[in-house]
Order: sequence, then C-alpha cells, then structure tokens
Amino acid sequence: MHLDLLNTIDNVEECVSSTVGCQAAISALMRCSSSFHEGVGNALRIIRENPQLISEAEANFHLLDPLVEYLEAKVFLANDVDQLLFGLGYGREDMELLNNAYCAWETALEKIFVERLCAGVSSLSDYRLNSRFQRLLKREVSMLSQRNHRRALFIGSGPFPISAVWLHKYLGISVDGLDLSSDAVERSRGLIAKLGLEGSINIIHEDSPHYDVGAYDVIIIALLAKPKKVILDNIHASARPDCEVICRTSSGLRSVLYEPTPILTEILEKYSIADARVISGAADDTISSLLLRRVGRG
Ligand SMILES: C[S@@+](CC[C@H](N)C(=O)[O-])C[C@H]1O[C@@H](n2cnc3c(N)ncnc32)[C@H](O)[C@@H]1O
Repeated sequence: MHLDLLNTIDNVEECVSSTVGCQAAISALMRCSSSFHEGVGNALRIIRENPQLISEAEANFHLLDPLVEYLEAKVFLANDVDQLLFGLGYGREDMELLNNAYCAWETALEKIFVERLCAGVSSLSDYRLNSRFQRLLKREVSMLSQRNHRRALFIGSGPFPISAVWLHKYLGISVDGLDLSSDAVERSRGLIAKLGLEGSINIIHEDSPHYDVGAYDVIIIALLAKPKKVILDNIHASARPDCEVICRTSSGLRSVLYEPTPILTEILEKYSIADARVISGAADDTISSLLLRRVGRG
C-alpha cells in the first residue's frame, strides 16, 4: 500500500485535537484526508490556539507557511458542494482570523524575500508569487480603457512592491507605490535601489488618509490596503475626472484567504463598477479586480 494511504487518518477531529504542539498539529492536519470544511475548520482551530502564528509571523514562518499552503490547496481544489455549503460554516470572527493569518503570511513572505534579494541570494523571478502577480497585473492593465497613461499610483505597495514593479513593466511609465507603514516603506526603498529601479518606481510614505492623488491617471488599490471606503473617498475627492481606478477584491471561497472589498451603498453612490475580473475555480490566482468609474463628480 502507498505510504500516504497508510498515513491517512479518517477522523480529522481526533487527529488534530489529540496532537500536542503547533508543529505536530499542522503535520497531522496535512496527513489527514478531510473535506474542505473539516480542513478549514481544523486549520482555524490551530490558528486560534496559536496566536503567535499571526503576532510573530516572521519568526513562525516555518509553521505558518505550510498551514497557508494547505488552506490555499483546499480553496483551489474545492468542489461545487464545498462552494454551496461555504456560507453556512463560518462566523465573522472565524473569517477575520483566517484573513489575518493570510495577511500576516503574505507580509512575512514579502519581508523574508526582500532580505534575501537585498543579500543577493535571490532574484525577482524567484519570488513565490511572482507568476501570480505577473498574471494579475497583465489582467488589470487589459481592463484599462485609455492607452496614454503618464503616471500611476499603487496604494498599499508593501515591503515587496511586486505590483508596482509589474505595473511599471507593463505600462512603461513611472509608478509611485504608497504605504502607511514606515517599515514597509524602508524595506521597499532598499529593494527598489537594489533592483536599479529608482528612476521608475518611487515609494511614498503616507499615513494620513487624506493625500492628493491629482497627479495620477491610473490608481490600483491593493487587496490588503484598508479601509477601502476611506481610500475610495479620498480618491473621489482628489483624483482627476479621467483617472482610472482599479480596486482589488476577493470572491467566493477565496474570501477564506483575503477579505473581500465590501460593496457598500455609500461606495456605489460615488463609483459604478465598469468592469470586473472575478477569479474562481481551480486556478491558483487569488485576487479579483474591479474597474471603478466615478459618479457624481467631473
Ligand atoms: C502585504 S502588502 C501587499 C501588496 C503587495 N506587495 C503588492 O505589491 O501587491 C499590503 C500593504 O498594504 C499596506 N496598507 C494597508 N492599508 C493601507 C492604507 N490604507 N494605505 C496605504 N497602505 C496600506 C500595509 O501597510 C501593507 O504593507
């Protein structure tokens, strides 16, 4: 008999709760054959019982990383029944915890990669999510209706501004990355210098919700940049009338990973959704994109 089958344990509940320690619980979880709901529920339990996975994500990356990989696989391989039952299973707090774990994982992944790249032991194409982001930016650029853009802004550029890098490569124009975290700004400026992209990508530190975006004709808002309503209100107040705005979101089972952008009535009073690329199914893409058109101004 195949070794994996010998390791398979049917009673997931028993298998995870009987295990002492986070590492052992994660290993047990990964050996269990379980449905989407059992698997996500048990991953949730591990995250809840081990808050250090989120609060000290970099130090615990060797634990958080396989757990997130497991969650991603559950989402990508989910079937129609999992999809139908999804709404029944999780409360707001559960979803928040899963989203916080994914956010902590992505931020730690970026920080660790920036350190490796700046130390000269990795190159851009080695980044684990590189192809995913390359596809995402290609898709987003194809959503834009104008072709003569001059300056772009990416809000929430993070420690590793991969979206700004691909946006610059695809549009061939200079891109500003903006982040409210001084740590992310410092790390990403070091990375941009290391890549020799100082003339093309400029990183701005901005921790006030009110900044002038009147210089841009394209703005993309990161999925992890929040609160979306505040960011969109600011863009509505100061962007040029012809500025194209793309707001990222997640949909369906992918909201186990990323918190979706809430489509609030207050947002729809200021923007209409001109186009949407919604990601679902077995592809390993995680981020959906909405092209927003401003109403009520200009
Ligand atoms: C982990 S990064 C993800 C972006 C990714 N590096 C990219 O290129 O697509 C998310 C970043 O968004 C930043 N952020 C969150 N809310 C924000 C806001 N309201 N304005 C600006 N940056 C924000 C966080 O500080 C974090 O560094």
